[in-house]
Amino acid sequence: DGRKLVKYQGFWFPLNYLRPLLSAQKHFKANDSDIILSTLPKSGTTWLKALVFSIANRSIYPNIDQSPLLTSNPHKLVPFIEFDLYWNEENPDLTHIPSPRIFSTHIPLNALPNCILESSECKIIYICRNPLDQFISHYYFVLQNFVSKDAAPLELDEAFDMFCRGVPGPVWEHMLAYWNAHLENPRKVLFLKYEDLKDNIGFNVKKIAEFLGFPFSLEEEEQGLIDEISRVCSFGNLKNLEVNKNGYVMDGLLKNSSYFRKGEVGDWTNYLTPAMAERMKKLMEIKFQGSGLMFNI
Ligand code: PPS
Repeated sequence: DGRKLVKYQGFWFPLNYLRPLLSAQKHFKANDSDIILSTLPKSGTTWLKALVFSIANRSIYPNIDQSPLLTSNPHKLVPFIEFDLYWNEENPDLTHIPSPRIFSTHIPLNALPNCILESSECKIIYICRNPLDQFISHYYFVLQNFVSKDAAPLELDEAFDMFCRGVPGPVWEHMLAYWNAHLENPRKVLFLKYEDLKDNIGFNVKKIAEFLGFPFSLEEEEQGLIDEISRVCSFGNLKNLEVNKNGYVMDGLLKNSSYFRKGEVGDWTNYLTPAMAERMKKLMEIKFQGSGLMFNI
């Protein structure tokens, strides 16, 4: 079921994703103080979970050395709507979760539970990544986690060809919908890029805090809190924590370690040919034409 794909509301989903998606569409109730982290897989979800958890909870854990991030995987602290909340339960009780509740999702904008878009205050943070790195990251994540249990993996060039034909995805539709929503209402949707965070994390930590309505005070800035949060959430720090070397998330299915592979920009150059990159570049030019969205490939 996890490998069989079905098209629903314009997107290819794993078959076993549909039931939790439908349950969430039917039952999820957004609160005004909710923060929804929305991403395509392998685009910076884990990093964004760590950052937003740290930023939103910094008054509860002023001493960063006591942050739950040091003893728990970010995916345990910020659950996925579809994989964690609605995977096993049709209508779980989410009312006991203290606010601000932080949830994450891979659901495309047009398939989100309506109340998320209708709530005037609930915020969405989207992060995306250059599709070539996202593709490679996803390919190796699948190899690492699913191949022994499932059928033989697709060859890289076969998987890439499908990817360029919009399966899984289409990724460009996923990105564009959130991009346009951000342009229409930047107070509701923050649009981030993995590459920009790699380039200047402090600037983006500040930006996230301002967007959420909890900007850093001068005192916090002078205490170096932005740098501390950036450091604790960094790839090197998270990857080397004991919990991320050993634990499991998603009902024990996925290794914590499999969320930390290389964490680099441009790793695709080690796997894809210039012709493959050119194909994606052309595709992006056509799909993003006139939108203002682009990636440096
Ligand atoms: S998932 O399964 O959708 O939650 O995966 P996601 O977290 O979106 O993507 C995993 C990739 O992000 C890299 N990663 C990070 N990069 C920078 N900083 C931090 N803190 C960080 N944490 C995870 C991770 O290594 C995956 O990318 P690749 O290219 O495979 O290394």
